[in-house]
Amino acid sequence: MCGIVAYVGEKDAYEVLIKGLKRLEYRGYDSAGIAMIDNPGEFLHYKCKGKVSNLEEFIGEQSKKGSIGIGHTRWATHGPANDVNAHPHVSGDGKLALIHNGIIENYDVLKKELGKRGHEFKSDTDTEVLIHLIEEVKKNEAVSLFEAVRLALNEVIGAYAIVVIDKDNPRELIAAKKSSPLVIGMGDDDFYIGSDATPIVEYTNNVVYLEDGEIAHVSLDTGLKIKQLDNQEITPSIQELQIKLEALEKGGYEHFMLKEIFEQPKTIMDCMRGRVNAQKGHVSLGGISEYKDKILAAPRIIIIACGTSWHAGLVGEYLIEDLARIPVEVEYASEFRYRNPIINENDIVLAISQSGETADTLAAIKLAKEKGATILGICNVVGSTISRETHAGSYTHAGPEVGVASTKAFTAQVTVLSLLALMLAKEKGAVEASKLNRLLFELESIPEKVEEALKTDGICRFIADIYMNASNALYLGRGSSFPVALEGALKLKEISYIHAEGYPAAEMKHGPIALIDEEMPVFVVATKGASYEKVLSNIQEVKARKGKVIVISSKGDETIREMADHYIEIPHTEDMFIPLLATIPFQLLSYHIAVMRECNVDQPRNLAKSVTVE
Ligand code: M6R
Repeated sequence: MCGIVAYVGEKDAYEVLIKGLKRLEYRGYDSAGIAMIDNPGEFLHYKCKGKVSNLEEFIGEQSKKGSIGIGHTRWATHGPANDVNAHPHVSGDGKLALIHNGIIENYDVLKKELGKRGHEFKSDTDTEVLIHLIEEVKKNEAVSLFEAVRLALNEVIGAYAIVVIDKDNPRELIAAKKSSPLVIGMGDDDFYIGSDATPIVEYTNNVVYLEDGEIAHVSLDTGLKIKQLDNQEITPSIQELQIKLEALEKGGYEHFMLKEIFEQPKTIMDCMRGRVNAQKGHVSLGGISEYKDKILAAPRIIIIACGTSWHAGLVGEYLIEDLARIPVEVEYASEFRYRNPIINENDIVLAISQSGETADTLAAIKLAKEKGATILGICNVVGSTISRETHAGSYTHAGPEVGVASTKAFTAQVTVLSLLALMLAKEKGAVEASKLNRLLFELESIPEKVEEALKTDGICRFIADIYMNASNALYLGRGSSFPVALEGALKLKEISYIHAEGYPAAEMKHGPIALIDEEMPVFVVATKGASYEKVLSNIQEVKARKGKVIVISSKGDETIREMADHYIEIPHTEDMFIPLLATIPFQLLSYHIAVMRECNVDQPRNLAKSVTVE
């Protein structure tokens, strides 16, 4: 949520900042801005509403010189998206500039205090209050900028990742973080800062992840020094980045979302690599396996997540309960954290997050930790805050997901959950050896079957063309296909802005059936398996009310071919792996509908890739 990039060194800062902002744009795209220093004592300060391309246009032929600078792409929290509220914000005396991700919760109190001392504010943002506070402390205490930031942050309540520059000192950046990520890239003779590693990876693989409550002094003269808010010095720990630059490019696809949809055979394979070997009857999740006895002895597993990750959690509930017979509860992290939940020391809390930075999921983890539960994580972004806050976990290894609509992260999360369910079932002896073996072989064949499911692209495009102007859509599924229906509906609404609802197929008759008329497309997962016959009856109920039925069916299903208005066939698989295949056509349908409606697929309105505010 909001992107930060900063640079100090010998390079042309403008190039680094603009490139970085473009890579970060998936984090927020309401407005963008940069501040650079060419001649000490003077800022080059440009910001405007809209995307990074608007900023470039706005800067046009104006000066772009300087080898130090900060850049920001915003997802509005305090104040509407306009030129004035865009970052960077500048102190009252015009000497300091600041970019900020997060929310300063006590900004109102601070603003009033500063107002009494003569500070005047131009914007509606909490960020401007913070830079005025830093200015005030620096002046009153007559301290360095580094110290002023440290003292000011001691007065702040809330979440932040910030970078500050002083126009009189073009050789240093000051950065700090609490509950919002910040990474420092260590070049040979320069430094980069990013809210994630995407603007850094092109220049260096050596990074330092700032921890909560740390402030960094990044200087071309004295190198990197880190202190905690209480003034204690910390030795920076340099880590190697795992991501590759190619993973951040579209690779010939029109959109990141389409590229990421088509990457799924590989990402699922990467996710399984070294974790399953059907021939040897082996299934294990390295990061979690040392906790397996604890999980098996646990009275229940509580899964916490948001959005698509929560849908993956619902699939996990079906898998773990069915195979390993351990009770599972799936909670929205945002609800869980505020409702005084009953958590015991023996409970296992499993947090699922693509970004590993979602504020609500992080807060729920902290709450569960305080209550003594064991916290496990399933994350995609290596080194993310959630992956560091959990006791143990498994990465999904899907590679960077840039499209705001989650696709490959979902199937990778479901793959990890499938492995977890199988590992627990095996350890517990909850399934017969022959069944376990069959399931392991089937899991190994899933990447190939996903490849086949991707061949539905043509028919999905054809169906998209028919329904692209629908105002509403209903998605139905039963069992583990119910979360697939929820995920299908979420994909459609977030990128094409068509109102869509996911429902358990049998629930339809308890209300949503009233919505059905000849205008209403109803997307149904009706693959061969446990509740097939029941879903057929649900389809008949829709047809009887003249609804248009689009069915995801098993290959060669003649009954569906006759019954449905349109059908999309996917390969046969075991019930438990249906979500991995059935979700593919839903992703493709949403993608094509959004493209046909000329929506911004990778950066849908009002959304951001990782939601680091409550
Ligand atoms: O990074 P996380 O998995 O924690 O993010 C959770 C949700 O914000 C995310 O899944 C969101 O719903 C996506 N836009 C869905 O496509």
